[in-house]
Amino acid sequence: MEYDPTLLLQVEDVHKSFPGVNALSGMRLDLRHGEVLGLVGENGAGKSTLMKLLTGIYIHQEGEFFLDGEPLRVRTPLDAEKRGLSIIHQELNLVSHLTVAENIWLGREPRSGGVFTKPREQIARTRDLLERLEMDLDPKALVANLTVAKQQMVEIAKALSFDAKVLIMDEPTSALNETEVAQLHTLIRRFVTPETGVVYITHRMPELKSITDRITVIRDGKYITTTDTATSTLDEIISHMVGRAIDTSAKPVNVRDDREVILSVRNLTTKSALHEVSFDLHKGEVLGFAGLMGAGRTETARAIIGADPHVSAEITLRGTTVTISNPAQAARMGIGYLSEDRKKYGLMLNLDVAHNVTISSIQDKFTTGPFEKKSAIRQAAQDAVELLKVKTPSMTQQVKFLSGGNQQKAIIGRWLVKDCDVLIFDEPTRGIDVGAKEEIYQLLNHLAEQGKSIIMISSELPEILRMAHRVVVMSDGYVTGTLQADEATQESIMALATTRLSEKELP
Ligand SMILES: Nc1ncnc2c1ncn2[C@@H]1O[C@H](COP(=O)(O)OP(=O)(O)OP(=O)(O)O)[C@@H](O)[C@H]1O
Ligand SMILES: [Mg+2]
Repeated sequence: MEYDPTLLLQVEDVHKSFPGVNALSGMRLDLRHGEVLGLVGENGAGKSTLMKLLTGIYIHQEGEFFLDGEPLRVRTPLDAEKRGLSIIHQELNLVSHLTVAENIWLGREPRSGGVFTKPREQIARTRDLLERLEMDLDPKALVANLTVAKQQMVEIAKALSFDAKVLIMDEPTSALNETEVAQLHTLIRRFVTPETGVVYITHRMPELKSITDRITVIRDGKYITTTDTATSTLDEIISHMVGRAIDTSAKPVNVRDDREVILSVRNLTTKSALHEVSFDLHKGEVLGFAGLMGAGRTETARAIIGADPHVSAEITLRGTTVTISNPAQAARMGIGYLSEDRKKYGLMLNLDVAHNVTISSIQDKFTTGPFEKKSAIRQAAQDAVELLKVKTPSMTQQVKFLSGGNQQKAIIGRWLVKDCDVLIFDEPTRGIDVGAKEEIYQLLNHLAEQGKSIIMISSELPEILRMAHRVVVMSDGYVTGTLQADEATQESIMALATTRLSEKELP
């Protein structure tokens, strides 16, 4: 293999397969000194697998890696760290019962005499680091209590705390909103010097334009092409990715404001997060929920379905006042909630695809007496997998072996099988590739046409603008406004999202 001295990282002819899956074949990739290289491809294309090979999580079967001209042989994540490779994992890799500081320095704790850990020094170092990165995080907070977005921040802080040469970011922004993405991009620009480089994986196409220098496209485990960002259009990149053109300018369909109210929420207040949240959801409507991190959108959803307690609220479902005390009861009443945190509240990683897709419907659809109807379960799962194009070798594959985006599709499938009247989708397309996103949008439109009512919480404004018949905007625990589809723009939403009602009310 020829080594090219202008390259920081070189990957040549790498192969990797898993039982039933050829994840990578003949894969290559070049990272130049001082550049941010975008790496894109559909769900299951092999992006994360390649990054896991580079950082010693998997061992490759064939192929070569070079770092700064030297052969790179990493057998463990520790080897990778020592060679200056730092990674932000797509599936956040934090230990939930430890604090922010403990997670950042795990395995590298400051010690006196090499033995006793020094918690105070660790906290102080964490404060310094977070201050330097301008991140609003409490070093002593337990990771279990953080939102997904904050957890993502911790991962980013951790990766930047190493003295890294190559920073690998596997969808670092999937849980972040536009402001936070801009902050991260500033950090990346500060990180890049002529000695370092970044591999940046994302499904949010516009980000590629703002942060990358070049973009490498892979498909089905194979290298397709690398282009200069400045001279290529997103449409070109997307068509390399999915092998066809996708219309990204579509608008909400079938918007009407004369439909009956199916779910009405009045004055929903919780102890700390929410203040008198009120809104109506109509039959056959897609109601968008927009806002910045911490605005209270997830809290609203969780309080409605009884996952978290509320202080007061009047909730009316199909005209009847209801009290919902837990998510299972909500589901029985026909309200399904897809959580933003698929690992904590959704997926059962060790169960197979069939059970993950059917689990919420097992009792009402897939049992006779004490017995599971095995073939019905498999058939329902098979249908959902085909509809959503989940990439899996079989219905009996454990969900933890699916790629990130395909795990997300599996959980969407669960709510399709459950057949609820009201669907609350919290960041439904997180980690899903552009082509599949468009398919999911069409599916949601189809559900709305059939009379289902959908609440779509999303941090991606283009997604809200693409889908929502009306947009409820929240800020700081308040609803700051509701916009009709034709009033909703990036600007009008952001203006409401940054309105602080709580401060206005102060004398
Ligand atoms: N540990 C594993 N065991 C079995 N199959 C695996 C394993 N890890 C990955 N795969 C399979 O390898 C293929 C590539 O997966 P990978 O996670 O690299 O995709 P990706 O490009 O990162 O996708 P996404 O955009 O959804 O994150 C997929 O078909 C996936 O199911
Ligand atoms: Mg991945």
